[in-house]
Amino acid sequence: MRTLESFVAAMIAKSQSSTGAASRGNRRKDAKSRVLAIFTCLFVPFVAGSVIGCGGTSIHNVSSTTSPSQPAQSSTTLPCDIYFNTGTPCVAAHSTTRALFATYDGPLYRVQRSSDNTTLDVGLLKAGDYANAAAQDTFCAGTYCTVTKIYDQTANHNDLTIGPAGGADPADVGVPANGLPVVAGGHSVYGLSFTGGQGYRNSKTTGIATNGEPEGMYMVASGTHVNNNCCFDYGNAEVSGNNTGNGHMDAVNFGVECWFLPCTGAGPWVQADLENGLFASDWGYNTNPANTGFPQPFVSAWLKNDGQTKMALKGGDAQSGALTTEYAGSLPTISSGYIPMSQEGSVILGIGGDNSNNSVGNFFEGVMTGGYPTDASETDVQANIVNVGYDVVKANSATAGKLAVGSEISIQVTSSGYTNAYLRREGSDGAYGYGGIIASQLSSSSAAADLGDATWVVRTGLADSTCFSFESRNHPGEFMRHYSYVAYSEPWTGAEATAKDATFCAVAGNAGSGYSFQSKNYPTKYLRLYEGSAFVAAEGGSNAWDAKASYGQDTTFLVVNPLKP
Ligand code: AHR
Repeated sequence: MRTLESFVAAMIAKSQSSTGAASRGNRRKDAKSRVLAIFTCLFVPFVAGSVIGCGGTSIHNVSSTTSPSQPAQSSTTLPCDIYFNTGTPCVAAHSTTRALFATYDGPLYRVQRSSDNTTLDVGLLKAGDYANAAAQDTFCAGTYCTVTKIYDQTANHNDLTIGPAGGADPADVGVPANGLPVVAGGHSVYGLSFTGGQGYRNSKTTGIATNGEPEGMYMVASGTHVNNNCCFDYGNAEVSGNNTGNGHMDAVNFGVECWFLPCTGAGPWVQADLENGLFASDWGYNTNPANTGFPQPFVSAWLKNDGQTKMALKGGDAQSGALTTEYAGSLPTISSGYIPMSQEGSVILGIGGDNSNNSVGNFFEGVMTGGYPTDASETDVQANIVNVGYDVVKANSATAGKLAVGSEISIQVTSSGYTNAYLRREGSDGAYGYGGIIASQLSSSSAAADLGDATWVVRTGLADSTCFSFESRNHPGEFMRHYSYVAYSEPWTGAEATAKDATFCAVAGNAGSGYSFQSKNYPTKYLRLYEGSAFVAAEGGSNAWDAKASYGQDTTFLVVNPLKP
């Protein structure tokens, strides 16, 4: 017999399964008053690289490995060598993927793990080469790691650390260390995926342009992970973290901020954040008919500014081809303060000058130069970037439809009464704007958008590299997670708790086939389909969706080929 509480919960769940925005919002408010469950399951970490969870056989997440046949970065002239040889040396060089000088053999970035707060500096496979991401995988296995420092590869040591509070927003948080696995030079490495609230800054720099000095910069970002919030920037900003006026910033911006019409195309656009404005030209703020945007998965975004009269914006597909000059002309005259510039010499990444930190974006590498770089040097640096062979982690015939990191999958439910039904993102979540997760009956003739919503990219578990996270195919940067034990598709916030909410450990299916997905932070709970919606549920628990009936079948899923072709 049902208790009153479980009856009410069942009613709430039923109304939620019809995905009213308000009901999901209310569930979040309810969740704030919940007391965290005590882990009742003995979680036995690492025995020869495996994890044994509660009540199931573990399925290992085997990290993708470096192909031994891949050469090291063969070029003796990496980006900062090119800039040095052409008279505009790098004054800052940041990357989590590779060396930017042929002779560099120091650390690239620092990760901190939550299990004991210790840190690891991730370096290179060898001098001038690619990141030794395997060291990070080993260090972070079974726990949650964030990136706390991005080293400057120049002698200036303009290292970036997690940004302090600024005029616009409170202090930033670090980016999860394993959130953006990519391939560079044939090696498995990590980029940085910013999902809001995250950012890095150094306000005590050496060698960065100030007060009208010339400089150049580029960053490699992604055209597939952007938004229209301020400000996914890399470059020069205020020392105080406050907006100190026009011309006090000089940073390359990449996103879909179109604050002043007209803009051209859908973006995302390479623009100059010069403070109090993102500029695509001197023809109005965002206005530039030639600036149609770069939607590619890897994009190089370029800005140079002589500090006195002129600037240039360029962009390129970082996987192939040459640069396009979007603009080369006068600094903005629409408002005073940009001629001459008044840069302050702080370096920022992923935020605006006043620490506006609601933007999203991906970052792989970036450089700032002293002096106004030549077009020829930028052409050569673009060629070097293309030569890296940046790529997403692709499924292959061995991994397609399998629970392998980088693979695209669909997750078929096995609950009684559901035929050809798959877990999919659906709708939007009221004030939060993200999706719920339900089961939908789909076939190859279903709408492409629906098939994409039922396709997930398998990622290394955000909170445990022996487990998995599932990133939405249609909404990159969103992950399947639970909140108040209800499943959603949402960006993770950078907080450890969110990473755990989005991490599932795969065990043999509770009903004897396929998989069951055990919640990382609530090991007694498994992903479950209940009355058409997804939850995390413990058999016989107090929520309606914990019901014993059909528990085994409802927590058992088949990992199948991705519905989205
Ligand atoms: O210029 C755009 C943004 O405006 C800056 O990055 C920020 O400091 C201000 O809010």
